[in-house]
Amino acid sequence: MAEGSELPSSELGTIEYWDMTYKRDVMNFKSHGDLGEIWFGEESMERILNWMLKSEEITPEGSVLDVGCGNGLFLVHLAFEGFTRLYGIDYSRNAIELARAIAEEKKLNIAYEEVNFLAEGHVDGLASKKYDVVHDKGTYDAISLNPDDPRAKRIAYIKAAHRVIEDHGLFIITSCNWTNEELQNHFTGYFRLEYEIPTPSFMFGGKVGSQVTSAVFKKVVL
Ligand SMILES: C[S@@+](CC[C@H](N)C(=O)[O-])C[C@H]1O[C@@H](n2cnc3c(N)ncnc32)[C@H](O)[C@@H]1O
Repeated sequence: MAEGSELPSSELGTIEYWDMTYKRDVMNFKSHGDLGEIWFGEESMERILNWMLKSEEITPEGSVLDVGCGNGLFLVHLAFEGFTRLYGIDYSRNAIELARAIAEEKKLNIAYEEVNFLAEGHVDGLASKKYDVVHDKGTYDAISLNPDDPRAKRIAYIKAAHRVIEDHGLFIITSCNWTNEELQNHFTGYFRLEYEIPTPSFMFGGKVGSQVTSAVFKKVVL
């Protein structure tokens, strides 16, 4: 599990970076209603939403946890599609402030909590529960860029994701740092690939590659 080489570290792997980013976003939202960034773009989010809406394994009554929810826009879209049990966690308190302000303005009932997903011993709160769907867009990527022992952080993340998913549950992840094969390799023993959501590919140096990977994994019940 979690084999292979690590990525060069970056400030995107630190809480200071995200706190600073979302502090600016909170100010922008309050001053002129700007909702902030959609990581990997609008199309990337729509691809996942469309897949979820068509999936026979997902219903609007099912619970969804967005890990590293940022501004919460993914959950906002699900709320508009009729999903009712929506939860978002992020370790940046400014991200949670922004997500709550956006949900309040749109009169949506989404529960948010400031929590470090990698911390151990969650005895209460959102990270101590189990969900039908766990969603991640860019959070595993950010954790992989941590300057301090990223491999250990990735392994802690995979174990935490496995813990918060129901046995029948789905793990939907979008990454721009790891290929589908690398994700499968990292998750061996914890999750198995169920479906790869097709993403646009590009040609570079005679090779066809994708900028973003979106994949749906099923929990391996240990
Ligand atoms: C690339 S951003 C993506 C945000 C959001 N998912 C989106 O698509 O807009 C990565 C997010 O992961 C959050 N994050 C990183 N490490 C985390 C951790 N250990 N626990 C909870 N959130 C974390 C960051 O604060 C940030 O909001």
